[in-house]
Amino acid sequence: MKNIKAIIFDAYGTLFDVNSAAEKSKDRIGDKWKGFANYWRTTQLEYTWLRSLMERHKDFWQITEDSLDKSMKAFDIDPSMKNELLNLYKVLSTFKEVPEILKTLKEKNFKLAILSNGTPSLLNELVKINKLNNLFDDLFSIEQVGVYKPDSKVYDLPIQKYQIQKNEILFLSANSWDVSGAGNYGYNSIWVNRNNSIFDNLDYKPKNEIKNLSELIKLI
Ligand code: LAC
Repeated sequence: MKNIKAIIFDAYGTLFDVNSAAEKSKDRIGDKWKGFANYWRTTQLEYTWLRSLMERHKDFWQITEDSLDKSMKAFDIDPSMKNELLNLYKVLSTFKEVPEILKTLKEKNFKLAILSNGTPSLLNELVKINKLNNLFDDLFSIEQVGVYKPDSKVYDLPIQKYQIQKNEILFLSANSWDVSGAGNYGYNSIWVNRNNSIFDNLDYKPKNEIKNLSELIKLI
């Protein structure tokens, strides 16, 4: 890890808890809130991959709404809840260790950035609302290239901006397929396995697997 110049984080699921929107509405959704949250997230990601393959780009906010519409039908959720759920998705909470760990890394003088499917305005809002805006050097959005992860054009963005080698980047994602995408591209990738999941078979095995970002400090 000695040659690492920048630490780059995935946003959704890694820093920000994508289930926190449905969880905050669980009194109205009922016990099915978790299944619904997972279905919404899976559909949202499928739409990113399918739209990239079809070359019919829509931004992440539109995809979040489209996937919500399908998920609400699938789980028979009262249509009047749509705006509440979308508004909550704009103000997702971080996982609890995130602010403190980012501050520690900043003090160690690493360049810190987010590289995400989210639109620039969604990412700006999320870091602002969670009071993280002074910690990041850059919020890289796939909107700069108009195609979703794991297209290599996305992973090119920090390389172009920082003019550093691929292996000088440490990339962290809770999304196994994103770890593979970034690792196959050439980053040192770490899997934040928050949910005790099984890693995908996509030609890359992560350098390290950690349960949350607190374990990162020991590694660097
Ligand atoms: C992102 C998704 C993959 O933030 O979580 O890019």
